[in-house]
Amino acid sequence: MVGARVSAAAAALLVLAACAALPGRAAANKISINWKPNTNYTDWVKQHSPFYKDDWLVFYYTAGQADVVQVDEVGYNKCDATNAIYNYSKGRSFAFQLNETKTYYFICSYGYCYGGMRLAIKAQKLPPPSPPPSASDRSAAAIAAFASSHAAVLYAAAAVLAALHRMV
Ligand SMILES: *[C@@H]1O[C@H](CO)[C@@H](O)[C@H](O)[C@H]1NC(C)=O
Ligand SMILES: *[C@@H]1O[C@H](CO)[C@@H](O)[C@H](O)[C@H]1NC(C)=O
Ligand SMILES: *[C@@H]1O[C@H](CO)[C@@H](O)[C@H](O)[C@H]1NC(C)=O
Repeated sequence: MVGARVSAAAAALLVLAACAALPGRAAANKISINWKPNTNYTDWVKQHSPFYKDDWLVFYYTAGQADVVQVDEVGYNKCDATNAIYNYSKGRSFAFQLNETKTYYFICSYGYCYGGMRLAIKAQKLPPPSPPPSASDRSAAAIAAFASSHAAVLYAAAAVLAALHRMV
């Protein structure tokens, strides 16, 4: 009886500790974009903001109708692909990870950029949880909360153990 209570309490503590150790955000987001001519993506960027570092942009496009060219800010503003950082035009889709905290610029080099087929995407740092406790603080808090809410049980168990000890 007492042994069962004690091991149940130990299991509960393990679960609490495991929960406290979970990171605030499980995984990076994957944001799909239907990348097609004659589209103005200004509102798309607004609707899908904020973007965070490590998010993935997945472009779906038709080869021959559109390409995805990563440029710098000047290239973005001028719709100019001559100083392209990289370009992608094969297959049907292309996944790009925003692996740094900065603004990324993409255009289509087929002339549609002037109509709005371009993206300026600011990859932000993940906001810290508020208030930002360390994992060990949270574990300690969880254990303290557990102990206070189960104080009666723990006290009773201790009393039973003491009584058993006196009997032997
Ligand atoms: C894309 O890259 C290829 C070679 O990597 C280059 O020949 C081509 O001119 C580039 N296109 C654009 C639009 O930058
Ligand atoms: C981000 O990805 C690019 C392209 O794959 C790579 O060149 C760069 O080194 C990466 N940056 C970091 C911080 O991993
Ligand atoms: C794209 O849409 C935005 C917001 O609606 C607008 O300000 C901008 O002028 C448009 N761009 C073009 C090239 O039509």
